[in-house]
Amino acid sequence: MKEEAVASRGEACPGDMNVNGGINLFFKLGSYLASSNLVVAMLLVMLASCQTSSTPHVTETDGSYLRLPDNSTKALVWGTEPEAVKSLKTWLLKQRIPLIDDVKLNQLASEMGLNKSISSADVLKLAKTIGAKQVIFVDADVYKSQRDDIASFFGQATIYKASLFIRAVNAETGEIDWSGKAQSTESFTNLSEGIHQLTCHALATAWGLRQPGRATAPSVCLPGQNAIVLAEPHTARYILAIAKAFRTVYAKQIVAQAARSNVKPDEEWTKNEHGIMLPAQFLKAAGRELEDFELSLIGLTPIYKENLPKTKAEEDALRQLLANPAIGMVTFEDGNQFKGLAVDLAIADSCVACHNSHPTSPKRDFKKGDVMGAIVVRFNK
Ligand code: HEC
Repeated sequence: MKEEAVASRGEACPGDMNVNGGINLFFKLGSYLASSNLVVAMLLVMLASCQTSSTPHVTETDGSYLRLPDNSTKALVWGTEPEAVKSLKTWLLKQRIPLIDDVKLNQLASEMGLNKSISSADVLKLAKTIGAKQVIFVDADVYKSQRDDIASFFGQATIYKASLFIRAVNAETGEIDWSGKAQSTESFTNLSEGIHQLTCHALATAWGLRQPGRATAPSVCLPGQNAIVLAEPHTARYILAIAKAFRTVYAKQIVAQAARSNVKPDEEWTKNEHGIMLPAQFLKAAGRELEDFELSLIGLTPIYKENLPKTKAEEDALRQLLANPAIGMVTFEDGNQFKGLAVDLAIADSCVACHNSHPTSPKRDFKKGDVMGAIVVRFNK
């Protein structure tokens, strides 16, 4: 039936189409079905199918971090848009980040003679006095307009567009620990839920849980929920943390114990009775035992070319770690795979000595403490 086909088409949503298109469609439908009240029924069906526009359907974000917050990072949330402040607090508490109590905060602020319109510098001062490690500032720009199309008859007259900016400032150093912003690219009708979604997207981008840029819902932030639902970055982090721990135990404790009976790591260990695997060989051998995902080591100046980054995204991530080793780990999407890198530092003189003198090493000036490469994990999304 013709009318069903029209009603089920996505673009038949009055809120999403331009006003003229909507009215034209109505006249057309009206002439098909002039004698019945099917028009009204269909209108209701169409409006019901417009639920997606109650919150931002498409978001555009940006963000990054230097240090991730954890449950020892006592934070103070500051902002002037009540809806955004409320939402941010909900998300942070969900992540078990302890927040400074409002009552205590207001009390101290009035004791210090500060009012609502205080400067960022004053807020930082306040944070230090109260013992917060981080001040999380949130700003929101909300654009409100009146809808003049058919949907306004059904009580959805006000539509919104919004941008949200979050930045976490280290109370000690004044450095930005992490920051994220999110913007709705289409208008939406439910302001508080919309702001809640944008807050989720800004945080998810800041913390490396979603890619910056444009994303279409549903993605990491599902409407009506208070959880960032993306398992991949957490999975990548767990795998890397475990791999790193095993590698460290091998490189430090096992190698040290073996040395007491004159057994040493040797690349040609299979040909040497007193040789055991190099730490790098140990990790790669363990990786070969795995079927569901890949675990390996990469470097920008590797001893063997097979240890080069496999894609541009891996190379970029490795450069990011090289520029800022304090980040420790990065996770990212790469085509149909999800990946994570954990920085691999020259923790001992022996790392440097061996790499600088290995016949096939292209780099001969490593120093202790340098980034030598990274442990990499790759798995299908
Ligand atoms: C006795 C020599 C030796 C020592 C000591 C050594 N490595 Fe290596 N390393 C190698 C060799 C050989 C490879 C290549 C192994 C392969 O791909 O089979 C390698 C690979 C790597 C890679 C992968 C990229 C590349 O260069 O191919 C990283 C990263 C790395 N080692 C870091 C370290 C760190 C960090 C230490 C110290 C904890 C260390 N290595 C100690 C010899 C050594």
